[in-house]
Amino acid sequence: MIQLAIFEDYQTLSRQAAIYIADRIKQKPNTILGLATGSTPLGLYEELVSLHKAKKVNFSEVVTFNLDEYASLPKEHPQSYYYFMQQHLFSKVNIQLHNIHFPEGMFHDANHACQLYEQQLLENGPIDLQILGIGSNGHIGFNEPADRMTLQTHITDLADRTIVDNARFFNDETEVPRKAITMGIGSIMKAKTILLLANNETKTAALNALFSGVIDPNIPASILQLHENVLVFVNSDVAKHLKYRPTALMNK
Ligand code: GLP
Repeated sequence: MIQLAIFEDYQTLSRQAAIYIADRIKQKPNTILGLATGSTPLGLYEELVSLHKAKKVNFSEVVTFNLDEYASLPKEHPQSYYYFMQQHLFSKVNIQLHNIHFPEGMFHDANHACQLYEQQLLENGPIDLQILGIGSNGHIGFNEPADRMTLQTHITDLADRTIVDNARFFNDETEVPRKAITMGIGSIMKAKTILLLANNETKTAALNALFSGVIDPNIPASILQLHENVLVFVNSDVAKHLKYRPTALMNK
C-alpha cells in the first residue's frame, strides 16, 4: 500500500522525514536503515544531524546499507556516494564504522563485489526502513528503466537521462561514470517500510507511475505498488502535478 503525505515545503518534508526515522530508531535502536544519496535527502540528513545534536536520536546501534555507488570512483572522490554520506551524515553522528555497508564501486571482480553485498544484506537484513529518492526516469537506486528488473545487487549501465541529470554534480557530462553498482529491486522490496522522498517537479511523471495500477519495468519505481508499506513524502509544488488525489493530507 502506498500512502502519500504532502508537506508545505522542502524543509518541512525533510524535518518530518527525520522525525519519522528518529522515532523508528527510538523504537528499535539497532534499526537497519537503507540510505539514499542525491540532492533530495540532503535536507533529511541535515535534520537528522540536528536531532542527533539535540540528543533526540542515537545512531550507536544503527546499521546502514547504501543503495548504490558509482563504478570506478574511489571513496575519497568528492562525487562518490561514500564521500557524500561521510560528508552529510556519517561524520556528524555517532554511527559506528563497522555498521556502515556500501557496495564496492572500485571492484576488480564485478561478480564478487555484487555477491559480497548480497551476502551482507542477507546476513543483516531485511532492511527495516529504506529511504528512497526517485530518478526523473523512475529509477530507484540505480535500477534503471529496462525490459526487465533485476532482484539482486548488480552492475548497471547508467541511462542517458541519468547521466544528463547527474552531470550537474560534475564539471561536465563526460566526467559522469557510465556504470554503477546498485542494490537490486529484490532487496528494496524486502524492506519492511519504504520512505520515498520527492521535492522536484521533474519527478512528477515518475511519481504518477506509483499510482497507475500498472507495473512497468521501464519505470522501475512502479514496482513499489506491490509493497505493503510505502510512504511517499512530497512537497506541495510536486503534489500539484500529481494525477493522484489523496484523501488525507498532511501539512505540518
Ligand atoms: C541518483 C541516485 C538515486 C537518487 C536519484 C535522484 O542518481 N542513484 O538513488 O534517488 O538519482 O537524485 P536527486 O535526489 O538528486 O534528484
